[in-house]
This record gives sequence, structure tokens and C-alpha cells, in this order.
Amino acid sequence: MENRLPLIAANWKMHKTIGEAVSFTEDLQKETAPSVDREVVIAPPFTALDAVRRTISRPDFKLAAQNCHCEEQGAFTGEISAVMLKDAGCDYAIIGHSERRHLFGETDDMVHRKLVAVFRHGMVPILCVGETLEQREDGSTFKVVDAQVQQAVLGLNPQEARLLVIAYEPVWAIGTGKTATPGQAQEVHAFIRERYGALCDKSVANATRILYGGSVKPDNVDSLMDQPDIDGLLVGGASLEVNSFKRIVQFKTTKK
Ligand code: PGA
Repeated sequence: MENRLPLIAANWKMHKTIGEAVSFTEDLQKETAPSVDREVVIAPPFTALDAVRRTISRPDFKLAAQNCHCEEQGAFTGEISAVMLKDAGCDYAIIGHSERRHLFGETDDMVHRKLVAVFRHGMVPILCVGETLEQREDGSTFKVVDAQVQQAVLGLNPQEARLLVIAYEPVWAIGTGKTATPGQAQEVHAFIRERYGALCDKSVANATRILYGGSVKPDNVDSLMDQPDIDGLLVGGASLEVNSFKRIVQFKTTKK
């Protein structure tokens, strides 16, 4: 696995009050053993970041924001900057999620600027890319994903390029119950790694974690994690209940 530490992230989207977020985090820590061979990332809504940070009591649990503005401060009503997220204790920030791109009009250029801001403040971006159903059907999946990655990572230094986490999330699989088959996901992951290697450096790409997201469930987690280029998962719906997310965190793989 080229020493790529598996990363399992819960993207709660616009779900959970502070109390619900805290009791979920407490329960998950109680019901799973601390682990050195996987990392668990919780991305609660902004309002619960601080409370979840205070609840996290294990080094294998990390905190993520679901979005970030690219400017440090200013007249941007309703936005939150990377400085503020760092201050709130975030380790990661999800950038360019398809809901941000499609419902809130985020462009590749905005995604790029957000990514730079997240790195500038000592956090790691989880860059989301993925094709729509129409793009998959017209055969442009690889072209779309390639362009999204290329534009997002422009100008990263080698250290940043190595730390970056990429999440392949086919838009047609998000929240639809339609998971990409392990083979479909692996094909795109291997492509992303190869192209990322050509863009940065092969050894950097071999160390970069590429997550899969889109209708991950307890019953498909093991077969997804068995794929050689799937290094973790970004989980929406199935991360809202402790029982199902616990099973996902406890994925089993025969991969070496
Ligand atoms: P889903 O969402 O697991 O509910 O499909 C994944 C995501 O949007 O990150």
C-alpha cells in the first residue's frame, strides 16, 4: 500500500446539532479500539467543530471542515476562512465537494484558491472530484476528473502535493444508493494516481491518498477497500449512525 494510511471520513453535511455531534463522537470512540493503521476524520457542520474537537480524545481521530473561503477575512457574510478553521482545531478541510460545485456554483478556480488557503494555514485539503452521470455516459469521465485535479493543484509545492488527499466521488453515486462498482472506482483511482504522478512526481503520487465517496455502506466497504488504489472513503449518509459508520471504520481488507 506504499504506506498510505487509510483514511475514513464522515461528511455529515447539514446534519446534527452540537449535542448529537458530541454524543456520536463519544460513542464511536467508546465502541472502536484506537488504531494505528487507519485514521478517522469527522466533518461536522461548522457549529459543532469546536465541541467535536473537545470531545476527540484519540490520536487516530481527526477533525475536518466541510468547506472554507479562500480569503483570510473581510466582508464575506456567511463565510468562514482557513484561519478560523485552524483556530477551531481542524486538521483537514473538504474542498470542492460536488454539492458545493453544483448547488453553490463553485468553479475549479475557486476550488484551487480554497485549496491554497487551507495549505497556507497548516491544514490538509480533501479535494473532491468526480463526473456527472451525463459525463460518464458520454465517455468523458477521465477528461473531467483529470481537468478538475489539474486545475485544483496548480502550483502546489512537493510537500503539499504529497499531503493532499484526493476524493473521487462520482456525482451519480452521491446520496443515490448507486455505488460505483469496486472495479469502476479502481479504474478511475488508478487513472488519477497515474496522471497525478505525471503532474507532480511518481513517488509523490504513490504516497498520496485517494478516497472513494458515493453511497459507501457497511456492505460494500470491504470490497471497495480491497482495491489497490482506494486508500480510504468519504462517507455521507452511512456516517450519520454510529452503528453503520463503526462498521465502515472497521473495514477489513486483504490488501498488503
Ligand atoms: P453519500 O455521500 O455517502 O451519502 O453518497 C458521500 C459524499 O457526499 O461525500
